[in-house]
Amino acid sequence: MVSRRVFGVGVSLAAALLLVGCEKDDPNEIKVGAYLSLSGADSTFGTDTREGIELAVEETNAGGGVRGKRIRVIYEDDKSNTYEAVQKVRQLIDRNKVVAILGEVASSRSLAAGLIANTSHVPMVTPSSTAVEVTRNRKWVFRTCFTDDQQGAVAARFITNDLKKKKIGLFFAAQDSYSSGLARAFRTEIRKLGGEIVVDKGYQKGETNFRTYLSELKAANPEVVFVPNYYNEMVLIARQAKEIGIPGSMFVGGDGWDSSNLVDGAGAELEGAHFTNHYAPDVPWENSKKFVTAFTAKYKHLPTSLTAQGYDSAKLLFDAIERATEPTPAAIRDALEATKDFKGATGTMTMDKDHNANKPIVVVRIEDKKFLYATQLLAE
Ligand code: PHE
Repeated sequence: MVSRRVFGVGVSLAAALLLVGCEKDDPNEIKVGAYLSLSGADSTFGTDTREGIELAVEETNAGGGVRGKRIRVIYEDDKSNTYEAVQKVRQLIDRNKVVAILGEVASSRSLAAGLIANTSHVPMVTPSSTAVEVTRNRKWVFRTCFTDDQQGAVAARFITNDLKKKKIGLFFAAQDSYSSGLARAFRTEIRKLGGEIVVDKGYQKGETNFRTYLSELKAANPEVVFVPNYYNEMVLIARQAKEIGIPGSMFVGGDGWDSSNLVDGAGAELEGAHFTNHYAPDVPWENSKKFVTAFTAKYKHLPTSLTAQGYDSAKLLFDAIERATEPTPAAIRDALEATKDFKGATGTMTMDKDHNANKPIVVVRIEDKKFLYATQLLAE
């Protein structure tokens, strides 16, 4: 009796495992994977991006799908952790057999997990990872955004030509691929433009007390401080800077600042600050307006730049799947490479030979706890 019950449990467990293991393929469906930081330190990057992808899927499926099939996106949460990102991409490829992958946002995770996609020959499209190395020498990895070489140069030009400042402080996360890469590009361009970097400091990622660094920055008397980091650290820096009398309007950042948590946490402290970005809700582009209208109708709040990038990367990928000679990873890769003049919410995209989409770079101003479009500059 006992043994039969144990046997029964064993059989149903085995059956359940079998069901999970061999999830049946629906012939009317095309499976795409998405790995994102849906929880952990950079969670708004992931959740904002997912909202954009969801809207793209909904619109695409409502319009008849791709190649007559429905798109299904399988989401995986990498918890803002590089090791998890690698595992999730392996799982999406080996277990779920996706034909292509969307993700990540943070360059450090796209770099690590992109290696898996590249060696497994499954195309990956990152919506917003800007570090140059993410796509370099990677035949299977693409991005739908500009690079940090371009972004850093634009920030330097904006400070020199628009803000008309010459004495600059630089403060960045030393071990982070994104932050240190963007700082490097900025340094090079500022020197070309004749600006002077009066203080240049790297902090350790994860630090929370920046007061000593900030006092050193203040003592060097810069006119502007460029801080290319992520929003979570910037909230702490802005608050501590205010305490020691560095005005928020002195700060300039990069796209990593884009999060509603930045203005929720330090909106007042950053009044008058600027940052380079992919997009702003009031950007004067026709396709963006359509996107903002559709998005706000569904979600009842404004999209962030990450959302717009998530939407564009998904739409561009679906377009490539449609154009591919067959719905296989290899044919989709070829179609991605051939992308030309794709009209997205964040600009018109053509894949260059390094798999980067060259788009105008937006400068956002923080005013009254809101992100407002200030200007746009072309990447060179
Ligand atoms: N560009 C950042 C990176 O590469 C990620 C990011 C993009 C963050 C857009 C916010 C907004 O790490």
